Amino acid sequence: MKISIEEASKILYKGGVIAIPTETVYGLAADATNKKSIERIYEIKNRPADNPLICHFHSFDQAKPFLSIYPKYVESLVSQLTPGPVSFLLPLKTRSSLQAATRGSSHVIIRIPMHEMLLKLLKKITFPLAAPSANTSGRFSATTAEMVEADLGNKIDGVLDGGPSSIGLESTILDCRKSDEIKILRPGAIGKEDIEWCLRNENIKVIDSLSIEQTTPGSKYKHYSPATQVFQIQSIKDIPLIKNVAVLGFSEDLKTISLDENIKFISLGSQNNLPEVASLLYRKMFELDALKVTNAYLIKKDFGNSTIGKAISNRLEHMLSR
Ligand code: TXA
Ligand code: MG
Repeated sequence: MKISIEEASKILYKGGVIAIPTETVYGLAADATNKKSIERIYEIKNRPADNPLICHFHSFDQAKPFLSIYPKYVESLVSQLTPGPVSFLLPLKTRSSLQAATRGSSHVIIRIPMHEMLLKLLKKITFPLAAPSANTSGRFSATTAEMVEADLGNKIDGVLDGGPSSIGLESTILDCRKSDEIKILRPGAIGKEDIEWCLRNENIKVIDSLSIEQTTPGSKYKHYSPATQVFQIQSIKDIPLIKNVAVLGFSEDLKTISLDENIKFISLGSQNNLPEVASLLYRKMFELDALKVTNAYLIKKDFGNSTIGKAISNRLEHMLSR
């Protein structure tokens, strides 16, 4: 059920759980300080109970009262990069009202999103919003209201439809716990170079750890996967001769191959337009699952070393079946 900002605010005050648009992916949101509502997020998503939730604020000023002492560079970094598609792992005050959202951790990930509709909602309410991506645990994130409705529509109290997410991949997560070092825990649209530029006058090391795996609780779980099994192939010649399969490729591939009618081709866009590939990626996974094919095959590609290229490679690696 689609709802207005006004309705969204009322539902949240009553402890409800709704889907919200962000520029990265849709979130499944509730009052971050309401324990019961937080538990409902876990139920709805079927999310492992030890996997903490990102908390969304309209400004860093709103977040500050929740934080304990953080490194000096944080203020400057946050002011240059937000509102925007980036999140910060920071120390939380003891006995914080956000501890249900952080699962008891003494650290919280904060995010100040730039989606206008969401910012309006955040300014209307007096609490931050805990919001993991709006998808059943393990699946790819939703980037349109329709995708949320299809996956979770009957379990939630409404969807605030803010159109397709413009970036299409989850926020970059920065570990800002150390005073002289920042670790990129999850690659996204904000990259190492952006951070280095913001901190060009300071002596802070930025580490591109390119995987959240060893570092955050959520990383041990499966991520970003469609229901259809996806296998990687080197070229179109490697598709096994079975019926009813799909190929995930790029518009450039279409020029060099001819497909027989048993094979459905899903174009992820042009390799020369990676921001577009990123913004469409999860929508294409949604299309793939709707095809109900036996298997899908992804033609291996090198996306290079650009920030968005690395973020795309990271998500594709996670969604492959092994
Ligand atoms: O773009 C995004 O970040 C989206 C939108 C909705 O804001 N949110 C999102 O949330 O991707 P989620 O829950 O799908 O991914 C957040 C990741 C998870 O791997 C989780 O384990 C980790 O961040 N995380 C959240 N809070 C944490 C904390 N306090 N300490 C360590 N890891 C945390
Ligand atoms: Mg997620």
